[in-house]
Amino acid sequence: MMFKSLFFVITLVVTQSLAADHNTFKDCSRVDFCTNLRTRQPSNDYSVDPDTITTNANTLSATLRPNSGGTDLVLTLTGLQEDTFRVKIKEVDSGRYELVDVLDGEPKPTDFNGVARDDTSITVSTNSNSNSARVTFSPFSIEFSKDGLLEVVFDGDKLTLLETEVNAPFSFGVKFPQAVQLYGIHEHCETLALKNTAPGGTDPYRLKNSDVGGFEIESPMALYGSIPVLYGHGPKATSGVFLHNAAQQWVETTSSSAGTTQAYFMTEAGCLDLFVLLGPTPTQVVRQYTQLTGTAHLPQIWVLGYHQSRYSYDTQELVKDVAANFDSHNFQLDAIWLDIDYTDGFKYFTWNPDTFSDPVEMQNVLNGTNKKLVTIIDPHIKVEEGYNVYDGALAKDLFVKNADGSVFQGSCWPGLSSYMDFLNPEARDFYGSMYSYENFQSTTATLAGIWNDMNEPSVFDNSLEMTLPADAIHHGNVKHQEIHNIYGFLHTMSTHKGLLERDNATKRPFILTRSHFAGSQRFAAIWTGDNTADWPYLLAEVQECLNSNILGIVLCGSDVGGFFNNPSNELYERWYQLGAWLPFFRAHSTKDAERREPYLKPEDTQGVVRTALQTRYKHLPVWYTLAFEHTITGDPIVRPLFYQYPEDVSVYKIDDQLLLGRDILVRAVAEAGVESVDVYFPGGGNEVWVSETSDDVQAGNGKVAIPVTRENIPVYYRRGGIVVRKDTVRSNTAEMASDSFTIYYTVDENNTAHGTLYIDDGVSFKYRDENDYTYVNIEVSGDNVTISNIQGDGNYPVIIEKIVRRDIVQMPEGSQSGRYKEIVHTTDASGQLLKNVKIDPKNKTVLRLK
Ligand code: NOJ
Repeated sequence: MMFKSLFFVITLVVTQSLAADHNTFKDCSRVDFCTNLRTRQPSNDYSVDPDTITTNANTLSATLRPNSGGTDLVLTLTGLQEDTFRVKIKEVDSGRYELVDVLDGEPKPTDFNGVARDDTSITVSTNSNSNSARVTFSPFSIEFSKDGLLEVVFDGDKLTLLETEVNAPFSFGVKFPQAVQLYGIHEHCETLALKNTAPGGTDPYRLKNSDVGGFEIESPMALYGSIPVLYGHGPKATSGVFLHNAAQQWVETTSSSAGTTQAYFMTEAGCLDLFVLLGPTPTQVVRQYTQLTGTAHLPQIWVLGYHQSRYSYDTQELVKDVAANFDSHNFQLDAIWLDIDYTDGFKYFTWNPDTFSDPVEMQNVLNGTNKKLVTIIDPHIKVEEGYNVYDGALAKDLFVKNADGSVFQGSCWPGLSSYMDFLNPEARDFYGSMYSYENFQSTTATLAGIWNDMNEPSVFDNSLEMTLPADAIHHGNVKHQEIHNIYGFLHTMSTHKGLLERDNATKRPFILTRSHFAGSQRFAAIWTGDNTADWPYLLAEVQECLNSNILGIVLCGSDVGGFFNNPSNELYERWYQLGAWLPFFRAHSTKDAERREPYLKPEDTQGVVRTALQTRYKHLPVWYTLAFEHTITGDPIVRPLFYQYPEDVSVYKIDDQLLLGRDILVRAVAEAGVESVDVYFPGGGNEVWVSETSDDVQAGNGKVAIPVTRENIPVYYRRGGIVVRKDTVRSNTAEMASDSFTIYYTVDENNTAHGTLYIDDGVSFKYRDENDYTYVNIEVSGDNVTISNIQGDGNYPVIIEKIVRRDIVQMPEGSQSGRYKEIVHTTDASGQLLKNVKIDPKNKTVLRLK
């Protein structure tokens, strides 16, 4: 009984808290290793012993001798493909944990083209000598250059490796001589451009996956995920570092003029294993990083539609009612989500027998209108004999242990719980197998996705910072602190495998995860966690998702409307308008918040939301094409302005705007009661932007105040780009699958426009395994629109309904703004209806419009 009431109190705190709990979640001054390393003065502790240097085809090794006593270190420096180097530094006979599973395969080495040595340094070079790494002996440093430009310096002055009784922390500095702005080290609720942290002032950015309810705006506090990647960006070059290490970290950042931009990493344990990415453009640096950690596979098309969630839709009748109301009020919906209350006493892979007595019938009803179901499955397992998951995991020894070898038990939703040890491949297999139709009873194919939550993992114990103890033990005798930040990553790896097995690998698994790490894109989408229904959190959605997009995790969104509290109608509308332009589009809210499905709102708000949803569905071909292109290149789906316009220093701090691909510019309206907002139109004189919603045209000359109405946020298409849409919006993605396309463009100064379009079955891996897709170039030149195959078997015809030209009128040479007029072609020059021209992608087709 006592336990029960304690649990109730904790639950209340967890579900209702609106301010991050700084007593629970520590700042650097309360973490020993961080305090020690942060206040350590540069001391140039190590020198390279020139007599120990050896090189082979692609690796240089040397011993680093301590200058004033201590342990020798071993340095290895490896040349990798894609303009990347890898630096490892560890003690001779190091017992440090080496991370597995995170990289997408073993990085591919590349041979050194040259090795040059003098009395004070040795330089190795790769890629026809365009990349070089110069190791200086004393003081020790490594200078990485590309095409003669010094981009990254590994700063030996600040290198420290310690071993204490409880951990083995280390620190090192990195300088980015060409950079004026640092980005990365997701996940923080922070501006996209990282701030300067300083001892005595702002804390360093912390990376320790944490269940922080009511997190604050613009804060270096750790959140649910960690991506230890830092990009240094400036007009001349972009480069990056990726610390392949899943222990807790703190990163001190200084963005300043070129030559002084730098960072200082302080890490609790594990290996100093650093990848150095030489760019030199944002596109290249992101590709270099995703080359290491992989790309997302394509989502099934329904994933890109709209999702409705709530903590919780807690009866099957309510679920059916919500779904029916979406249809009857003409709101698009692809999936409805079940939070924890659908389970029998928070035992995952079960159903509450009272409130979900016939889950199959419920799924059949949803399926009848082409809707999917997503259910939550957390990693904590209720301690209860007779619960098959608990019994099975206990019998097979698959739980995380205490330091003394007993099974760890902590509190979470079910009360006393044990935690799957996902580091153990057997645990991943066992838990994954629970998703089978046989084990997760009463599930059907309509249960099309899984939500992995609380996987930092969350343990309701403030004294443990709400997670497993640092000395808990995983498979192979690995201490939890070594792998803390990949617990959620491993959880999704298990779920992904389980879903693949359940569906005999015929469907692309969909998983949403709260906790994540570098490489999580291979398994899951993310959302930004328990935000608040307040304007700054709307902006934070753009900031965080832009950051995750340049760090490989492209499928990102937030709880539309805010998790805690109740949004005003205005905020609610603006959130839908923005959510429609972020990759993952789901509304969710907590128990205490008022019900807020769009059909419950006043008519005028309904109208605004309806337009937002329709806008999303009209642009599905854009989303899907970009998602495909990401699978090949690693490119972000939504992009910050600096990514596409790297030389324009005035865009470096802009994070209330995003680019969807190259061609669509969106400005969030995250201000209450405004009649106009400043929009930055990038690209200089040659770039011109054409409004999606009015006939406004703006040259790419910087900031302009653009009027906004309640109905719209600013959205512009780029002149010279092509936007392919499906303008007939139906209830969900399935019903739009075979609809034809409408092509929108404005020709550039050469009278041309260019775009791409991707089509496949929307479900399976045949695109990947059998080349079963259509991927075409669309080229406009004058009055001709040419469609030609890029790759893929071209089995899906391109059926075009309309071609809409937006011709700029009233824009005299050199003026900032103008107007366009729309010319809609439904036939080609011969009068034939365009939709009757069945374009076989295998043959180049030219549509003549005049
Ligand atoms: C925490 C998640 O962040 C939230 O979205 C969810 O509703 C609750 N857990 C309950 O499962």
